[in-house]
Order: sequence, then C-alpha cells, then structure tokens
Amino acid sequence: MLLVIPDVLTRAEVAACVADLTAATWGDGRVTAGLQSAPVKDNEQLAEGSPVARAWGDRVLDALGASELFVAAALPHRTFPPLFNRYAGGSSFGTHIDNAIRPVRGTSIKLRTDLSATLFLSDPDSYDGGELIVEGTSGGQSVKLPAGHLVLYPASSLHQVTRVTRGVRLACFFWVQSMVRDDGARALLFDLDRTIQRLAARDGLGDAEVVALTGIYHNLIRRWAES
Ligand code: NI
Repeated sequence: MLLVIPDVLTRAEVAACVADLTAATWGDGRVTAGLQSAPVKDNEQLAEGSPVARAWGDRVLDALGASELFVAAALPHRTFPPLFNRYAGGSSFGTHIDNAIRPVRGTSIKLRTDLSATLFLSDPDSYDGGELIVEGTSGGQSVKLPAGHLVLYPASSLHQVTRVTRGVRLACFFWVQSMVRDDGARALLFDLDRTIQRLAARDGLGDAEVVALTGIYHNLIRRWAES
C-alpha cells in the first residue's frame, strides 16, 4: 500500500526547514547505504545526529504522531530518527531495496524497516526529475509530491529516485517498524479503521455495530501486534 499524507509540515515550516537545510553542511549519501545500494546511490545527506536533522526530524515525528491517518496506516512501534537528503546536478539513486535492519545510532535498538517514508520539501515546479518510483505488483508508481506532503510505502519494495536534471530536490526520509509486520494484515486493519470512522461519522460512536466493529478491530490488533 502506498499512502500520501498531505500537509505534514505547513508552508511556513517547509520554508524554515529549507532555509536551515540550505545553510547546513552536506556529506556523501553513501554513508548509510548498504552493499548493493552504495554503487547506485549518488546524492548528499545531512550527518545522522546533526542539530538541524535532529530538530527538524523531531518536528516531523511530532506532526506525524498527531496525524490520525499516519498512526492508523503505520501502526508505528519504533521510528528511525529522520534523515535528510539532497539531489542536484544530475544526481539520482538507482533501483535498490532498503536494508531490513537499521541500528539506531547511540542506542542498542535495531529497527526492522517495515515502512519507508519520504517527506518532500522542495516545490515540485522548482526541479525536474527526482520522482520516487516504487515498484509494486502492478508496475512502478511514480511519486512527486507538493512540499510538506509525505508518502508511506512498504520498505519491502524496490524503489529509485530518478535523475534531478534541474534545480534541487530536498527531502526527509526515515523508516518505521510497525506493530504489525505483515503489509497485508496492516492494510486490512487500515481499511477496517477507515470504514469504522465513516460509519461512526454517519451513525454515531455509540451505534451498536460501530461498537462491535471497533471491538473486532482491537481484537485483530491483539492477535497480530508485536511490541
Ligand atoms: Ni531507499
């Protein structure tokens, strides 16, 4: 399932974030790449733990924690501290898969990457190329979102970022370990949750069927969640 979460950051926050990122010191993106992905990765990244990455990463995670849509779709258990990357001057990231396990710097946590997230920070009209292409069973889906919007997709997908031939593409990216590991089970729970929300809006939270379905939702979480 590929899901867009709009307006994670406001226009003003995006502008402030871009100003901070523009003034920051960038390094080679290969530092966090795995053996297969390093040769096809050509971009720049902010150092993990840099003050700008930490401050804006925390802001992004706070916004997502308050997003009912994100929580319902990701059922997050752990989130990797967000990283920031920059593509310009013909850079790209060829087809690859993200590492399954990511140690979280400065902790003993090893996060299983169930979901990948990219928050677009540059106005799509300000650069050419830079589409995120996510491979799925029905072919590749191309994603290029307005600044401040985020896409969530299964980390089990092959994906790439096409060459940026004009302008600069700034983005924030990270991974989520979900309480529900299986993509299919998580997608069913998300569909059920959205349906319950619509029923509750129509018939009220106290409606007997809404209460019964909410019970089924939570009992499925009890059955499938790990923490
Ligand atoms: Ni990737």
